[in-house]
Amino acid sequence: MALVGRRVLLIVAGGIAAYKCLDLIRRLRERGARPRCVLTRGGAQFVTPLSLAALTEDRVYDDLFSLTEDNGMSHIRLSREADLVVVAPATADLMAKMATGLADDLASTVLLASDKPILLAPSMNLFMWNHPATQANLATLRRRGVLQVGPGAGDLACGEVGDGRMAEVGDIVAAIEAHFGAAGPLAGRRALVTSGPTHEPIDPVRFIANRSSGKQGHAIAAALERLGAAVTLVSGPVALPDPPGVAVVKVETAVEMKEACFAALPADVAVCAAAVADWRVAEQAQEKRKKVEGAPPPTLALTPNPDILAGLAAAGGRRPRLVVGFAAETENLIGHAQAKLARKGCDLIVANDVSPAAGTFGGDSNTVHLVGPDGVESWPALPKEAVAARLAEWIAARLAAVVEDR
Ligand code: C5P
Repeated sequence: MALVGRRVLLIVAGGIAAYKCLDLIRRLRERGARPRCVLTRGGAQFVTPLSLAALTEDRVYDDLFSLTEDNGMSHIRLSREADLVVVAPATADLMAKMATGLADDLASTVLLASDKPILLAPSMNLFMWNHPATQANLATLRRRGVLQVGPGAGDLACGEVGDGRMAEVGDIVAAIEAHFGAAGPLAGRRALVTSGPTHEPIDPVRFIANRSSGKQGHAIAAALERLGAAVTLVSGPVALPDPPGVAVVKVETAVEMKEACFAALPADVAVCAAAVADWRVAEQAQEKRKKVEGAPPPTLALTPNPDILAGLAAAGGRRPRLVVGFAAETENLIGHAQAKLARKGCDLIVANDVSPAAGTFGGDSNTVHLVGPDGVESWPALPKEAVAARLAEWIAARLAAVVEDR
């Protein structure tokens, strides 16, 4: 049932595997999805617009400058009217355009203008696939939260054998179904979660850190994914496995975390659960600082780190509809959380007691209070997974209300 009524915008680029997209369309329709096609000029060398139109029972979009279409605005409308954008086959060329933000035809312009999750099914010769340029482009796209299925290894159309073969149609359908989850309430939504501590280097071997384990943030990313969201988790250094189905971007410092968060926008919801260091060392030593016999110990000058939560909440047109922050406090929990809600401009603060007696940092349970503009909702002590599941449900309900209100 996960695909019933789902609007899938299928971008068919110019690779020999394009013929498989005919079967993909058929299988998506069998499952109740509503695929619509954008065909690149290269793609049209391999499949005809007529085949795609016949299978989708819709017209095929291939012209960026068609003035008969929405006054030339079809590139915006195509993405807005989709729940998911699938690029199959995703060629090296189209991935390079996406990574650099080029928009010189309808497909690349739709991808640049898209506010929807994007799933790539790469397909190319193995040397093109393994080329550092392609891998760097892919890494950039993954950091932005783009999803990927395949490629697999095997016989390639060029006669060579190796990586680069587009995922089988069944696997692409499975990835699309997995994305929409069991038709979860957050299907088609994008979520950004920060988690863990940050490490702020003093010199190449020392850093300033904190006791955050990342358990709560990682559990929230997993819970949002289980409700069907496309989740990007920006994580500081933690000793935890990546939650399945989540695009994980690993960072060390607050500055890197901020960059990764803004690169992952747009998002419908941002949950900032990371314990971001408030300060970093103003001047990091390039070499290890040496002890000098008899000299006084060095003084570290600090400089403030960017406030990621406040930055996301003040991001204007890029602001996620819902911005959730955490307040780790050791006293006057609710008072500090209310002040923080106003100061950071977010929609909710999840306040938790991190005094050593509470055992929250590194522990498996958490007692939280949801502090919003309308009041405080206190939850009992719960395992961090249960806090995450309840918070994900709360976010789904609130997001549905925000969208209805518009
Ligand atoms: O100001 P304070 O650190 O107490 O605020 C906590 C909240 O703000 C958390 O949600 C944390 O992830 C976020 N934060 C942030 N960037 C910072 C500091 C805190 O996103 N530099």
